[in-house]
Amino acid sequence: PLTALLLTLSLSGCVRMTLAWAPDKPRGLEAEPAIAAESVAAWEAKKPEIRATLETEIYGRMPDDARVELISHKVIDEAAFDGIGVYEEFDVRVTPVFDGGPASPPSPLMIAVLSPQGEGPFPVIMTETFCPSWAALPHPQASAPEDRESGEAPGIITYVFGRYICTPPLEMIMEAGFALAVVNSTQVVPDSGDAGLAALDRLAPGMVGEDDRWGAIGAWGWVFSRMVDVLGAEERFDEDRLIAYGHSRYGKAALVAGAFDERIAGVIAHQSGTGGASLNRQKVGESVGSITKNYPHWFAPRYAAFAGEEERLTYDQHHLIALVAPRPVLLGNARRDVWSDPNGGFKAAQGAEPVYRLYGEGPITLERLDAYQPQHPLSFWMRPGTHGVVEEDWPAFLEFLEAHF
Ligand code: GCU
Repeated sequence: PLTALLLTLSLSGCVRMTLAWAPDKPRGLEAEPAIAAESVAAWEAKKPEIRATLETEIYGRMPDDARVELISHKVIDEAAFDGIGVYEEFDVRVTPVFDGGPASPPSPLMIAVLSPQGEGPFPVIMTETFCPSWAALPHPQASAPEDRESGEAPGIITYVFGRYICTPPLEMIMEAGFALAVVNSTQVVPDSGDAGLAALDRLAPGMVGEDDRWGAIGAWGWVFSRMVDVLGAEERFDEDRLIAYGHSRYGKAALVAGAFDERIAGVIAHQSGTGGASLNRQKVGESVGSITKNYPHWFAPRYAAFAGEEERLTYDQHHLIALVAPRPVLLGNARRDVWSDPNGGFKAAQGAEPVYRLYGEGPITLERLDAYQPQHPLSFWMRPGTHGVVEEDWPAFLEFLEAHF
């Protein structure tokens, strides 16, 4: 049986209409993927091997170390966006280090932060967006290239992918007492096949051509950790409450960041799909073959070799989620976003659940896709509609964040 039904009607040979929906209860996996961990000690002992295998088979080698240099820190506006928050910019340079080997030239990274008025220390929602920081936090004094046309996301993007695809609801976030940090991680690895691959090779000297060369998803995950380096050192921000949030490809990166860096206090991975929260085995929606063909720079080359043979993967995405345990994770989904396979994500969350329970995080029971339980450290948010960050997403995210941070 299929976990989602895709019905394609061909009308007079030229009009094609695709109807897709996700059933209430995920079906389709023959075997429960639930992780059988016996004790916290046994699970903790297994984590390094799981991480290493996920690197080899899916994400590629992650750097062993990082160099981070703060070039400047400027408070741009003490009362930005009609006084709702303080706007700061951290201009940094970041360099990955592999095996203590030669470092590449550093990459620039601009971290723009809006934080509530007052003393702090504030919890921070760290995010990577599809827009440059000056467009995600559109402020006239924000650092931006001189040729920038505007600080606004093009209307067509927000029309298609939702009101909050670029700029989250700043007022709502400030009122909830969270700071918001934004980077454009494509400053480090551009999101295009050739330029992305060239940057990955340049950043990992000596690893060129290897089967497990790192991919952009891993690199963007690594960029989340650089935000932790910088913001965690500032008194205004609470180093124990730094949360990684991303949508879609950056949702994949946020999960990787949480799985590989235990300083990240929680993760919101919205519609992260293939290579993110949804299982590789018995895949619905975007296949391993398709994602590795269309985005050759996102993963280790070896991931492509599992296309059509996903059962050969040693671990699946529920292991990635479980590596974040017991820290809170929210997986966001939309019912008609079948490409990102919400059912596969739900199954993965169910598979990771026993690990959360091991840590005494209970009772957690994920039974229905649409029963939102934001108080659970492993939560699954399903709304109607399609791919994007829309009106009802952020109140749901904040409900989860307020329950845990
Ligand atoms: C494409 C891609 C997905 C990805 C998405 C996004 O649809 O196939 O894997 O998550 O883009 O980042 O919006």
